[in-house]
Amino acid sequence: MSLFARIKPLEAIIATAEKKSLHRSLGAFQLMLFGIGCVIGTGIFVLTAAGAQKAGPGLMLAFAIAGAICIVAALCYAEIAAMIPVSGSAYTYTYATMGEFLAWTVGWALILEYAVAASAVSVGWSGYFSGTILQEFLGVSLPAWLAAGPRAPGGLINLPALVIALLVTWLLMIGTRESAMFNAILVVIKVTALTVFLALTLPQAELARFNPFLPAGLFGGFGSGVGAVGAAATIFFAYVGFDAVSTAAEETKNPQRNVPIGLVGSLLFCTVFYILVAAGAIGTIGGQPIMGPGGVPFPAGSEALAQQCALPQYAQMLVCSDEALAHVLRQIGFSQIGNMLGIAAFLALPSVILVLLFAQTRIFFVMSRDGLLPETLSKVHPKWKTPYIVTAITGAVVALGAAFLPVGQLADISNGGTLYAFMMVAIAVMLLRRSHPDLKRSFRTPALWLVGPATVAGCVFLFLNLPYLAMAVLPVWGAIGLLVYFGYSRSRSSMGRGIVEVIDDIAGAETAIPIDPQ
Ligand code: ALA
Repeated sequence: MSLFARIKPLEAIIATAEKKSLHRSLGAFQLMLFGIGCVIGTGIFVLTAAGAQKAGPGLMLAFAIAGAICIVAALCYAEIAAMIPVSGSAYTYTYATMGEFLAWTVGWALILEYAVAASAVSVGWSGYFSGTILQEFLGVSLPAWLAAGPRAPGGLINLPALVIALLVTWLLMIGTRESAMFNAILVVIKVTALTVFLALTLPQAELARFNPFLPAGLFGGFGSGVGAVGAAATIFFAYVGFDAVSTAAEETKNPQRNVPIGLVGSLLFCTVFYILVAAGAIGTIGGQPIMGPGGVPFPAGSEALAQQCALPQYAQMLVCSDEALAHVLRQIGFSQIGNMLGIAAFLALPSVILVLLFAQTRIFFVMSRDGLLPETLSKVHPKWKTPYIVTAITGAVVALGAAFLPVGQLADISNGGTLYAFMMVAIAVMLLRRSHPDLKRSFRTPALWLVGPATVAGCVFLFLNLPYLAMAVLPVWGAIGLLVYFGYSRSRSSMGRGIVEVIDDIAGAETAIPIDPQ
């Protein structure tokens, strides 16, 4: 039997969605709030420093490049999410179009997107916790070996990052879900913090600080991870999470209009904001990279860079800060406001971890229900009504990643998986236009035959501009995934055994439609 024959019937997936039939209550504005809530996080609050180390002032261009690629990807997501509004996002879309094998690879890659991203945001949070809450407010510092992973000088374990990841896991296990109101409050906090940042920095920005604009060039070479495009591949992380909006397509009023506004609107908003924040940071305290041998910037997150940052002449540079935006405000004389911004990040980043971890557990849940992962994983707790086993395992792994790896590296690894998933979504949308041209689409991607290939090309291009090491993780991770697939999942898959379930609700009853085993 061909490797690509096990395609989940679209009709069964759509029947699942219809059974769920959620109330259509969300408007464009709520969707945008939801999107902004998932998106603004460690990327802008922390990785601005890593981005500047890779590109200098060209970081602004990096934000524009990554934002543009996300916007075309979002247009593809909008079509398929409105059409197949069920859990599992890119994994489910691939199952319906390219079959189980490729769906497995997407599900496997999404682990990188969500779980590793959750680790990255935990490390980002830890920087603000140690810098603002412990040092500025309580006047204490953690010993170096407890404050950062082994890549930092004197570091061994990032205890705050480990603790926040476990805490959020526990909240998820007992059934915490972010309410729309809570999300709206956090969005207001984050947007206010960034607006204040702009109001204080932009008037003081000096043009001279943007020169040279591209100290590491536009294109540093594939795998180098430097230059404006290398920074774009890292800073892409700042946009990850917008796809969560697509999971709300089914609950949206007039999705033809509102889903694209929600997806593209939240991304446009973030893109403009991010470019301005980068301009404010660089225009005030400068954002030139610390150059290593041969005039190439030291790799962000490397031990070599950390050693440079320990030298007094570099210690205050943007590229050396763990809490980039608060640091900028402190440097230009607004210490108290910098601390307030630190508190905003401290309060808001855990909700980004929560959304990412939640998405991860639901992907595992759907994969295990499809028989591709052990059934025990999707066991629902009798009281909490959550898939507690998979949540606990995921949380433990996320916490370990957060404890030992630097934020930039985690973000790069996560980006690799996300770019693969985005590419597959664009391909799925194009395939479905061919295979099911008459199926009702409440939103059609405009100019799909331009936007789809542009998404695929953009994702491949950014992937090739990740640092080699991050790039290598995807195939290695993929190879492990293949072993699991052929060693375990393929023979146990529900599709393979001729069963397609038609309900997609954790607590709901299940109906099985028998199909011809393939
Ligand atoms: N985009 C999210 C962040 O930057 C994941 O934290």
